[in-house]
Amino acid sequence: MSSRPSWLRFPRGLSNRLALGSLAVTAAAIVSVYVYVVPQLRTRLQDQKLQALALAAQRYSAPVASLVGTSAKEPVVDDAVRSAATAAGARVTLLGTTSGTQGLGVFFVSDSTREAQPEPMRDTLALRAARSGQVELATERAPTGPIAEAARPLYVGNRLTGVIVYSSPLSDVPGNVAAVRQQILVAGGIALLVALLGGFGAARALSRRVKGLETAAREVAAGDFSHPIPVDSDDEIGQLAVAFNDMQRQLAQLDSARKQFIATASHELRTPLFSLGGFVELLSDEDLDDATRERFLSQVRAQIARLTKLATELLDLSRLDAGSLELRPEAVDIGRLARAVTAEFVPALAQHESELELRLRREPIEVICDPDRVAQIMRILIDNAITHTPAGTPIRVTAARENGALQLAVQDQGTGIRGGALDTIFEPFFTSDDAQGSGLGLAIARELADRMRGSLSVRSEAGQTTFTLELPVR
Ligand SMILES: Nc1ncnc2c1ncn2[C@@H]1O[C@H](COP(=O)(O)OP(=O)(O)O)[C@@H](O)[C@H]1O
Ligand SMILES: [Mg+2]
Repeated sequence: MSSRPSWLRFPRGLSNRLALGSLAVTAAAIVSVYVYVVPQLRTRLQDQKLQALALAAQRYSAPVASLVGTSAKEPVVDDAVRSAATAAGARVTLLGTTSGTQGLGVFFVSDSTREAQPEPMRDTLALRAARSGQVELATERAPTGPIAEAARPLYVGNRLTGVIVYSSPLSDVPGNVAAVRQQILVAGGIALLVALLGGFGAARALSRRVKGLETAAREVAAGDFSHPIPVDSDDEIGQLAVAFNDMQRQLAQLDSARKQFIATASHELRTPLFSLGGFVELLSDEDLDDATRERFLSQVRAQIARLTKLATELLDLSRLDAGSLELRPEAVDIGRLARAVTAEFVPALAQHESELELRLRREPIEVICDPDRVAQIMRILIDNAITHTPAGTPIRVTAARENGALQLAVQDQGTGIRGGALDTIFEPFFTSDDAQGSGLGLAIARELADRMRGSLSVRSEAGQTTFTLELPVR
């Protein structure tokens, strides 16, 4: 358990986190706008004002310049100064220049506001312009508030005649900045609210859909495959729903296959057990003659053999299914292996009155494989060739290397397999009506071949059925 108070803990739940996430992103955007835009706004507005004054000094100073240093009367000069001020929308001051032994100096000539007070900062700027010979800009703190100034030196020919100074108050700048700042804050507040509500709404919708998936997953976990999730869009969650429904369908198929398997397996086990029970009952009758007793006992032996085979096969199949069957590959001489396996069938062949022909190339075929498993497949195939063919049917076993693979074939000349059954014979428990087997042999053989990265295929027509095991050589 966390010792933090509940309000300090990060909220659980997708919608809360997403809503908080969108809130945080929006807040970060607003803060960065505020931190970046507001401080720059002030200098921008000031710069704009200075540039406007510089432009005005270039544009409207010509009439004044033409009068300075001439014998023009004072009112005429005043008029020209005032016209320049009106045109520029700024205050205009005209200063004369002196050049004595103490260097350059300036003196007041005329002002558009007719206030002839000395302003040391303005004069300093004017002197700077007179020295540099170009328009100089500055902001300063006048008694009436901050102002922007542009000073332009005036010339007649090459001779400096005076300096004209344009100034205008900067008092509106802080007000404008404050207004923008306030607008950013208000808009930011609204954006935050929208982000919170929108984020929460979107996240709620999302989490409702995820919740639907969760409920469906729990149903499947509980073994209920009957409710597919409605697919309402083709976005990621929609695709997840499609994938989930696919999975559910496959699980349902697997589940029914498993139930079917168990049902069939129990049935297969029960039949010989019932039969055994019946024979035991019959054998307990003391009046039985020896011949009948012997007949019953041989039936009991046959049923026990059938049960044993079935149990072994079921175990093999379940090991294969669980993937716990371990292969032990080694270098195997396939000719030797085939001779050994076919030799095991001598008694069965004799009983069936069949000939088995083993056809091998002269040169030995060496393959890296698990000899026990290859032998198991061969036994299943030869057993079928004997069991599912009429007595006296010849059987042929061939082994060859073709295209870098081992081809091991068991061929018989029986009645063949109907075309429709060619696929189903490999399914567990499929068995032809008249046969006595469990129907697991070919299922096991094919599963084993797959596990060995090989394949087991069949070709059949009346009078010839061939099962071919193909294995990689190494
Ligand atoms: N050589 C064959 N000739 C004809 N039918 C065959 C042959 N091999 C297999 N089959 C058919 O395939 C079915 C499945 O074979 P298998 O899986 O070995 O089970 P089982 O032999 O126990 O019936 C058999 O019941 C039979 O109908
Ligand atoms: Mg069989």
